[in-house]
Amino acid sequence: MSAYSDPEALYTHARQVLPGGVSATARMNAAIGRPFYIRRGDGAYVEDLQGNRYVDMCISHGASLLGHNHPAIVGAVQQALDLGIICSYETEHQIDLAARLTEIIPCAEQVRFAGSGTEAMMHALRLARTATGRELLIKFEGHFHGYADVLNYSWAPPLEAAGLPAHPRTYPESAGMPAALTETILVVPFNDPPALEAAFAAHGEQIAALVLEPVNYDSGCILPEPGFLVLCRSLCDRYGAVLLFDEVLTAFRMHLAGGQGWSGITPDLAVLGKALGAGLPISALVGRCTVMRHLRPEGTSELSGTYLAHLTAVLAAQAAIDTYAQPSFYPRLAEQCEFFYSNFERVIAESGVRLRLQYIGPRFGLYFGLEEPVTNYRSAARQNRAMLATFVAGCIRRGAYFHLAAHHGFSGVHDRAALALALEAIEGALEDVRLAHPA
Ligand SMILES: Cc1ncc(COP(=O)(O)O)c(C=O)c1O
Repeated sequence: MSAYSDPEALYTHARQVLPGGVSATARMNAAIGRPFYIRRGDGAYVEDLQGNRYVDMCISHGASLLGHNHPAIVGAVQQALDLGIICSYETEHQIDLAARLTEIIPCAEQVRFAGSGTEAMMHALRLARTATGRELLIKFEGHFHGYADVLNYSWAPPLEAAGLPAHPRTYPESAGMPAALTETILVVPFNDPPALEAAFAAHGEQIAALVLEPVNYDSGCILPEPGFLVLCRSLCDRYGAVLLFDEVLTAFRMHLAGGQGWSGITPDLAVLGKALGAGLPISALVGRCTVMRHLRPEGTSELSGTYLAHLTAVLAAQAAIDTYAQPSFYPRLAEQCEFFYSNFERVIAESGVRLRLQYIGPRFGLYFGLEEPVTNYRSAARQNRAMLATFVAGCIRRGAYFHLAAHHGFSGVHDRAALALALEAIEGALEDVRLAHPA
């Protein structure tokens, strides 16, 4: 067996040349003790080093909303190659993509592109600070906004270090971040109107921005409670702060117009990522002209980079949006969701395992050991991680790939056959959980 058909041997080699054996921390799948190595992907499936096929229930941590190897995306990349792999020049295509986004995303009067969610979120915050002349950011505990030093706080704090539930501590999620930055961020519990109102009342004139995931997918799947996004909007209006939606995950997932289209609440700025490029690296910072005009060269807030808006990704994003915009795309997705979740609920009930399933669109949160609704990070963090690890390992053994982190979902090309295979694996894995973790 060559090193490249044996995952354990490949991982041993990887650890010599890649710190921790991975190219990105999130690629470690602790449920199997190493990354999941694949050699190719096609549609709803990925293939491991030995050629075994798995239904992909992680879909590139949410990016591959059209599955793998989608002909429209392949065609777009080919078009970019035919144009000569143009890089760091403006073409008509960036303008076309920006114009398209202004037509479909409610807050998007203007658009700038970046390479990743992390990068665009960092620029979005700097822009909000420029536009308001203020520094303080309010964020919600359990919401993730990328890895930049200015935003990498309190998305998965250990409960013993997280502070009081009503007054969470601003918890740095990495070593090496300047301590002084914690003073620029206030962390508030999600879905807690009095806590949010109190934060604005105490710091109103200093608040540059309120940032949130309109659906908190990074803590599984936590929906805003009725009226909560309205409150976010009205507090920002009252205190002159920028409302910034992190739509890296919500964009295109449950609605062509993203979380803002789904909720009817229009932020001042938003960042779109992941499904925008359908597997190619691109993100977009979109927003109202009154804020966006602060970007250089017109304004004073910097946003630049050699590889920004690379044509391969720009053309892929156009092709992805054309596909999402087809009249059948979201109705078909809704049918797949109905089929998958109704059967998943049934399988859970039959298994006798304590597991709460929460979902919106083709993305779901799993909370083992819990049955009551999960409404914020503190309740999500009470789930039983050992049960989840047993479940994920059991699914993988049975041919459905899940990641241990909260990135569970499927794509627009997962048909009934693929979802039925996933459900079969889920049923078996729940039996593993029942046996390994008796109630
Ligand atoms: C809501 C949210 N914001 C930002 C990011 C960071 O995006 P990227 O991984 O493209 O840097 C992620 C990644 O998972 C995310 O889920």
